[in-house]
Amino acid sequence: MCGIIGYIGDKNASPILVNGLKKLEYRGYDSSGIGIVSLSDGKLALRKAHGKIANLEKLIKSHPVPAGTVGISHTRWATHGAPNRVNAHPHADSSGKILIVHNGIIENYETLKNALKKKGHKFLSDTDTEVIAHLIESHYKGDLFLAVKKAIKELDGAFALGVICSDHPETLIAARVGSPLIIGLGKNENFIASDVPAILEHTRKIIYLKDGQIASIRKDKVSIFNFSGKSVIPKIDKVTFKVDSVAKQGYAHFMLKEVHEQADVLKQMFQRRLKGDSVVLEGLGLTDKQLKAVNNIIIVACGTAYHAGMVGRYIIEHLSSVPVSVDVSSEFRYRNPIVSKQTLVLAVSQSGETADTLAAVREAKAKGAKIISICNVVGSSLARESDGILYTHAGPEIGVASTKAYTAQLGMLYLLAIKLGFVHKRLAKTAIHKIIKDLKHIPALYNKILKNKSAIAAIAKKNSHFGCFLFLGRNINFPTALEGALKLKEISYIPAEGYAAGEMKHGPIALIDEYRAVVCIATESDTYEKMISNMQEIKSRKGKIIAIATEGDKTIAHHATHVVYVPKTNKLLTPFLAVLPLQLIAYFIAVKRGCDVDQPRNLAKSVTVE
Ligand code: M6R
Repeated sequence: MCGIIGYIGDKNASPILVNGLKKLEYRGYDSSGIGIVSLSDGKLALRKAHGKIANLEKLIKSHPVPAGTVGISHTRWATHGAPNRVNAHPHADSSGKILIVHNGIIENYETLKNALKKKGHKFLSDTDTEVIAHLIESHYKGDLFLAVKKAIKELDGAFALGVICSDHPETLIAARVGSPLIIGLGKNENFIASDVPAILEHTRKIIYLKDGQIASIRKDKVSIFNFSGKSVIPKIDKVTFKVDSVAKQGYAHFMLKEVHEQADVLKQMFQRRLKGDSVVLEGLGLTDKQLKAVNNIIIVACGTAYHAGMVGRYIIEHLSSVPVSVDVSSEFRYRNPIVSKQTLVLAVSQSGETADTLAAVREAKAKGAKIISICNVVGSSLARESDGILYTHAGPEIGVASTKAYTAQLGMLYLLAIKLGFVHKRLAKTAIHKIIKDLKHIPALYNKILKNKSAIAAIAKKNSHFGCFLFLGRNINFPTALEGALKLKEISYIPAEGYAAGEMKHGPIALIDEYRAVVCIATESDTYEKMISNMQEIKSRKGKIIAIATEGDKTIAHHATHVVYVPKTNKLLTPFLAVLPLQLIAYFIAVKRGCDVDQPRNLAKSVTVE
């Protein structure tokens, strides 16, 4: 939620900031702004615009930002205060000397605001963020670092902050609690940012600022302290992913590009993690003996990652007989979960910054559970707070609708399930050999489905007028149905519900008439016949059916209006294949309806507020 980039060096800050900001637009896009210390008069110069960064660029064209070598900028996802120009960041103090950008939520901002108002501070916006600028001003006696340090001690909540001051053009201050912030190290220039892509074209040397740390950044020096003032020697990481991986590479949208990348993501994961018939879970941090002692697993996750977790439950229970429960992270701590020493809490998250999942993990830790995370973003908060970390290495996912991160999460959950099946002695060698062989074949099958993309696009277009969709699946593909519905609703805004097909007769069938489209996942399975019965019930009520079926299924076409075939595979592995047409159907419907596929309304890529 919200993207920050800051610069200090010898170059003109404004173009660097705006370019970097564009790489963070996936984090929020309801307003944006930039602030610098002007070289000509030493004063702050500020430009803010409502809406996407393109509007800020237009504003800068008509009202150029003066040259300046230190600056901060921000793209916003509104929490406190409507999405408009006034509430856009950066925010200034009353003296107009201090500027700040913020990602997170200040929970005690009303108390602080009232106290500051009594002291004569005048507020222009409805944001919680503006309070921080005034609070810093109230502590400022000429030493910016000290003022920021004192101010943040009074803040409750989550924040990643970038601060500049016209009295100190040689310094950029950064601090974090709960929201991500990195420092990029360059030659005679340094950066701060919410995420690596923003600064990747300038540097690959990164410091992941930790919770409770504050940094004083000059163009040639970075000093980091904890909030009590103790100096910290930071670890410098080298980022390896390509600049290319954060560009669209000729695809119309990041989502489409990421859908196409799935085969490769899985291929690389299996190459890295499968050695013969052994699963290598480097990073897990548990010996086989410790893994054998695990007698129950709780998966916590949100959104698409939650759906991956649900598939994980089916496959782990099937292959290892270890009982699994899956919780939406935001609900986990409100149900008094029973956690013992033998419980493994598995957190699944693309970003590793999802506030609800982090809160669930902290709750589980406090109860004594071991935390293993499946996460895509290296060095994220979740990765750092977990006892073991299984990176999916899917590369940066920019489209707000998660696709390749989901597939990668599935991949890792299957690997973990096989490992658990092995250590719990529930899987014979031959069974392990077979499922690994089939798993390795999945990437090639993805490419086969993608070759049929135009047929899927045609079906999507024919059905794009429906005002309501149902997605039905059974057993291991019930979560696939939920994921299909989520994809469609988030990018096309068409109301869509996912159901376990057996639930139809318990209510949802009342919706069916000629105006409903129903997507039925009817791939080869033990519940295939039951799904056919569901389809007949829908057909006889005039519902339009799009079936996802297995190649070679000769009868399915009698029951469905349209059929998308996926290649035959091991029944247990069908979630990998069935989800791909669903992603594409959602994509092509959204495109047909003229929706903003990569940046759907009201959403942001990583949800760093609870
Ligand atoms: O970064 P995370 O995987 O923790 O994010 C969880 C959800 O916010 C995310 O999957 C969301 O549901 C996506 N927009 C779905 O496409």
